Amino acid sequence: MNTGDRGSMGGPREARRTTARRIGRGIGLGVLCLGAVAFAGIAIVYARSERELTRRHALSSQFVRSDLGAGVDAGVLDRGRHLVTVVAQCSYCHGPDLAGREMADDPWIGRLYASNLTRGAGGIGAVYSDADWEAALRHGIGPDGRSLLLMPSGELAHLTDPDLAAVVAYLRAVPGVDRVVPGKRTGWLTRFVVALGLAPDLISAEQAHRVRRKEPASAPAAATDEASAEYGEYLVALGSCRVCHRTDLAGGLHPLSLPGEPVPPDLTPNGPLSDWSREDFAVAMREGRTPDGRVLDRAFMPWPAFAGLRDVEVDALWRYLAGLDRNGNPSEPDGGALAGGLLGRTKG
Ligand code: HEC
Ligand code: HEC
Repeated sequence: MNTGDRGSMGGPREARRTTARRIGRGIGLGVLCLGAVAFAGIAIVYARSERELTRRHALSSQFVRSDLGAGVDAGVLDRGRHLVTVVAQCSYCHGPDLAGREMADDPWIGRLYASNLTRGAGGIGAVYSDADWEAALRHGIGPDGRSLLLMPSGELAHLTDPDLAAVVAYLRAVPGVDRVVPGKRTGWLTRFVVALGLAPDLISAEQAHRVRRKEPASAPAAATDEASAEYGEYLVALGSCRVCHRTDLAGGLHPLSLPGEPVPPDLTPNGPLSDWSREDFAVAMREGRTPDGRVLDRAFMPWPAFAGLRDVEVDALWRYLAGLDRNGNPSEPDGGALAGGLLGRTKG
C-alpha cells in the first residue's frame, strides 16, 4: 500500500506529491546537517575546554624560590593573619575557618569549592611543601601540575617574599579542621566560556603567567607599609579588586557571574568615586555603605573582610584609585587636574 502508486492516477496531484516529498527530504537533510554541525561544535567545545582545563604546567626549580620556614615570630604571624583574613580575603573564599567553601554548584556553571587550607583531614595544610605553597599562590599551579580555577594567583603573583612567607606561616598555624570538599565538575556554560577564551582569568596558571610576562619584576622584594599610591597599587593586587572590578577597574559583570550578582561598579574617575571624599571611600570599604545611602551586597563585595583594613591601607588604596586617569592607568606623579583635585580631598 503505497500512496505514491495511488497518486499516479492523476498527473497534477502526483507532481504536487513529488514536490512535497522532495521538500520533506530536503528538510530532513537540513535537520541532519544542523544536527551534525551542532554535534561537531559541541565536540570541539568539549575538546578545547578539556585541553585548557587539564593542561600540565611545567614548574622548574628556578621558578619557585622561597624558603618559607625561616624566622617566624609573632610579628610575622600577625602580618599573615592580617593578609589572610583582611587584605587578601583568603577567608572570604576559603571560609571563615579556612576549611573550604562552595564557590559554585550550578548545572550550567559546574561545581567548584575553594579548598580546605588547614592541617585537618581533607585539608592541604599537612601535605603541602614550601614549593607547593608558592606554586599555588604565585603561579596558580596545583601539586598535580594542573591549573587551579578561580584562585586569584594572577594577583597574588605580586606577593613580596616576606608577605608570602607570612601568609604560609599563618596558615600553618591555624587549627586543623576536618572537611573533605566535593570534587570539581565543569558545566557546559563554563566549557563554552573557556573554549571561546572569554574568561582568561578563570584559569589561574594562565593568568599568573600572563601577569609575569607583562610585568617580569612584578614581585617587589619588600612592600613599604605607608600611605603611598605604590603601596595602594600593591593592595589593589592583593585585594583582587581587578578580579571583580575587571582588569581596567572600569567595572562590569564577569562572563561567569552568578544569577542576581550586582554589577561591580567603575572604580576609575569615570565612575561614582569621582564625587567621593576619602571618608566616603573608607565608609564604603569598611562598613559597606555608599554616600548615596546604598548598602553594598556582602555576598559579592567582600567589605566584611575589608572592615579590618587599617587607616594607612585605606589611605594608600584611595591615593592609588584617586590618582588613576580615565583609562584606569596611574597618572604621572604630578597627576592630571582630576587626580590633583581628588587627592586634594584626602586632606579635607
Ligand atoms: C576568589 C576566591 C579565592 C580567593 C580570594 C582565594 N582563593 Fe585560594 N582557591 C580558590 C578556589 C576556588 C580554589 C580551588 C581551585 C581548584 O580546585 O581548581 C583555591 C585553591 C587554593 C589552593 C590550592 C589548594 C589545593 O587544593 O591544592 C591554595 C593553596 C589556596 N587556594 C590558597 C589561598 C590563599 C592563601 C589565599 C589568600 C592569599 C586564597 N587562596 C585566596 C579561591 C580563592
Ligand atoms: C569578589 C568580588 C569583589 C572584590 C574582590 C572587590 N569588589 Fe568592590 N564591589 C564588588 C561588587 C559586586 C560591588 C557592587 C556591590 C553592590 O552594588 O551591592 C562592589 C562595590 C565596590 C565599591 C562601591 C562603589 C559604588 O558606588 O557602589 C567600592 C568603592 C569598591 N567595590 C571597591 C573595591 C576595592 C578597592 C577592592 C579591592 C581592595 C574591591 N572593591 C574588591 C565586588 C568586588
